Amino acid sequence: MSKQFDVIVIGAGPGGYIAAIRAAQLGMSVACVDEWKNSAGGPAPGGTCTNVGCIPSKALLQSSEHFHHANHHFAEHGITASGVSMDVAKMVARKDTVVKQNNDGILYLLKKNKVSFFHGRGSFVKAGDGGYEIKVSGAAEETLQGKQIIVATGSNARGLPGAPFDEENILSNDGALRIGAVPKKLGLIGSGVIGLEMGSVWRRLGAEVTILEGLPTFLGAVDEQIAKEAKKAFDKQGLKIELGVSVGDVKVGKKGSVSVAYSNAKGEAQVLEVDKLIVSIGRVPNTTGLNADAVGLKLDERGAIVVDDLCRTNLPGVWAVGDVVRGPMLAHKAEEEGVAVAERMAGQHGHVNFNTIPWVIYTSPEIAWVGQTEQQLKVAGRAYKSGTFPFLANGRARALGDTTGMVKMLADAATDEILGVHIVGPMASELISECVVAMEFRASSEDIARICHAHPSLSEATKEAALAVDKRTLNF
Ligand code: FAD
Ligand code: NAI
Repeated sequence: MSKQFDVIVIGAGPGGYIAAIRAAQLGMSVACVDEWKNSAGGPAPGGTCTNVGCIPSKALLQSSEHFHHANHHFAEHGITASGVSMDVAKMVARKDTVVKQNNDGILYLLKKNKVSFFHGRGSFVKAGDGGYEIKVSGAAEETLQGKQIIVATGSNARGLPGAPFDEENILSNDGALRIGAVPKKLGLIGSGVIGLEMGSVWRRLGAEVTILEGLPTFLGAVDEQIAKEAKKAFDKQGLKIELGVSVGDVKVGKKGSVSVAYSNAKGEAQVLEVDKLIVSIGRVPNTTGLNADAVGLKLDERGAIVVDDLCRTNLPGVWAVGDVVRGPMLAHKAEEEGVAVAERMAGQHGHVNFNTIPWVIYTSPEIAWVGQTEQQLKVAGRAYKSGTFPFLANGRARALGDTTGMVKMLADAATDEILGVHIVGPMASELISECVVAMEFRASSEDIARICHAHPSLSEATKEAALAVDKRTLNF
């Protein structure tokens, strides 16, 4: 006799575990199935985000930033720190502890909300009268029956053709987060989010870092002015970024070094020799093991599950959220979709506003944005006003000793509604929240300009950028 549930969620990444909790809060009986194993073979819910994504990368970024500060910025505060060294094994062990705390936290939350957790792979068996049969294989061997299903199976790193990940020399995000010693030379393919974050970690620890990027423009999705400012800062840090390259053969030598043949922007043949190579050229939706064919679940040509605006698949009662469907591959987007789907199941009107999903790149300086870029507004032919304010003129930034970058606000020329905010600078990840809230409430730049911001705070730069839209900054 199979166990019966109102909802079975397949995948316990941020999309899946949050959907499971919300559905349980709304009174449904919920099962959540996840196959991720920790090093001891036990359950490790949290998906890519917790295990090999957002959380561990931010832990390493923090450790490497402390190291960088101790070596390069303490002295200006009058602190003498001699013989500063980095114990990479300890840094990685700390990261693993942070990951485990999150895994345990999620198991606790599922239990607290009375979600039944099954550790193993979930796959479709068949559709029946009352819903769908899901087989769990792994640590747990069960057959479950769910009236409704939420698929939240996430994504995997995309590899280079002919250069499969061995996680020793050619690394995906997984291996990149487990490098045991500072490589003398580190290569990365792709100067997107992972390339910049991981490149920053190892550059700060002393590696010679080269990033090969296929596109001729740096951070094409980011507002051009902001991307330019960020590039200047990365150049200064010694992150070598080559744009417009075409990557050819990748070979692993006998001693584990990796050689990458490529042609540069001028079309000249080049070879990059490195100790480790991280391939960060995007991610592909993961439906491996789902047995989607058994029930006729429709995938697109990229392998993503086809959904409508409400995350409904082609099958009645089957929903899909997060990286496995269209849209940005971000943890908070997956979470919001998970909540919205659970609420829709309960007859409520869950909603995700794709126009106000923030993006953050956790480099130093951080890069964060919400809404449209200046280039997008130009292409759309929308009349706009722009205001910028540099952190150089912000008292808190000066006190912090981090004055790189600016806040840039774009507002409609006629109505003054905020259309986009783009930040490069200290704590951009935190500053962007105010802008997301403002855009959700359809605020004007004048609204932000009139709001009292604490002094001294970095958020005053946001207020000043809003004042700059009306050409009336007070501190610049
Ligand atoms: P996942 O987190 O991928 O979770 C899917 C889960 O489903 C996994 O646990 C998997 O084991 C399980 N699963 C798959 N198939 C089955 C099956 N058949 N049966 C049972 N279980 C299954 N996003 C941000 O917003 N901020 C960041 O700072 C950030 N940093 C990142 C850093 C890196 C290095 C990477 C790689 C990604 C980062 N991301 C970040 C992206 C973020 O991790 C993803 O967008 C997010 O994890 C997607 O959530 P998800 O629930 O859709 O899928
Ligand atoms: P990405 O899409 O951010 O960047 C990939 C880069 O690789 C692009 O610039 C692309 O032009 C380049 N590229 C693609 N094919 C190439 C090739 N053959 N040769 C050279 N360059 C090539 O993907 P990335 O960095 O792998 O990250 C995947 C996703 O994970 C991100 O898009 C994001 O959704 C998520 N993520 C989010 C983070 C955050 O929110 N802070 C951090 C890390 C990842």
